[in-house]
Amino acid sequence: MAAAPLRCSSVLITGCSRGLGLGLVKGLAEAPNSPDLIIATCRQPEAAQELQELSKRYHNIRILLLDIVSEESRQKLVKEVGELVGAQGLNCLINNAGRNISASLDNVTAETMLQVYETNTVAQLMMTKAFLPLLKQAAKQSSGMGWHRALIVNVSSISASIQLVQEKEIFLMVYPYRISKTALNMLTKCLAADLKEDGILCISLHPGWLQTDMGGKQVSDLTQTETAPWYPEPDGEKAPMKVEESVPSIVSLLARLGEKDNGCFLDWKGNTIPW
Ligand SMILES: NC(=O)c1ccc[n+]([C@@H]2O[C@H](COP(=O)([O-])OP(=O)(O)OC[C@H]3O[C@@H](n4cnc5c(N)ncnc54)[C@H](OP(=O)(O)O)[C@@H]3O)[C@@H](O)[C@H]2O)c1
Repeated sequence: MAAAPLRCSSVLITGCSRGLGLGLVKGLAEAPNSPDLIIATCRQPEAAQELQELSKRYHNIRILLLDIVSEESRQKLVKEVGELVGAQGLNCLINNAGRNISASLDNVTAETMLQVYETNTVAQLMMTKAFLPLLKQAAKQSSGMGWHRALIVNVSSISASIQLVQEKEIFLMVYPYRISKTALNMLTKCLAADLKEDGILCISLHPGWLQTDMGGKQVSDLTQTETAPWYPEPDGEKAPMKVEESVPSIVSLLARLGEKDNGCFLDWKGNTIPW
């Protein structure tokens, strides 16, 4: 009989007001191996109605305020989370919050490049740095590698893959976004190498092309150019997958991750994506 997967006690997710972040909170709360503590962070907790509803249904969800680009906000959160997790530390940090400003080669500006880079790359590094003491504290409590010990998930995108770039594909319209996510992937590799000794695992995750505000509830704009052959076709006017279709696979993947996955770029099912 296969051994039961090891449990994660505490997880922190950024960007839980909507989209994938909200879906992950729900998926983790509903999972049979649900963590004892799900810290769902967002910029405006009082306005995050669905998240508030979820936290009333599941006792293990705690909503805390976080703007990932603010050092003051990050430091305040570290203190609050430290008090919640105590000596056990934090097992899993999911750097999910992100933004996209569509810009092709014709209309990309230095300003849009920097705005997207700040949120999708710099803030993820600073979040990780801020939470390292709590992740290291958790890593000291057990052995092996995985979310039962300490795990950092950087939510990336298949559009960040350098090897998959092709002529006339849709992501040629999102220069700032894909470049910021490629840099995020480098962050994953650096962290994986740097933190291996501490027993902290780090991966980049492509969650699938999802029907969210970012992924496109309407993708008619995106389909003006050809979709790349490696990318699923949009479902009519929408992105091909619902958040609820991707999340159970992600939750199952998180529980299966081990040392072999450290520094890898995986999709929601666990398939390796070329860099
Ligand atoms: N959807 C897709 O097809 C797809 C594909 C590949 C990768 N991804 C990645 O998946 C992640 C989630 O995307 P999504 O589709 O769920 O996007 P979304 O629906 O646009 O949601 C983005 C989330 O990020 C939050 N956020 C943005 N800037 C923030 C900041 N400075 N501080 C805190 N939170 C901030 C937003 O909060 P507010 O509500 O406060 O704005 C929102 O909760 C992103 O990293 C994205 O790049 C998505």
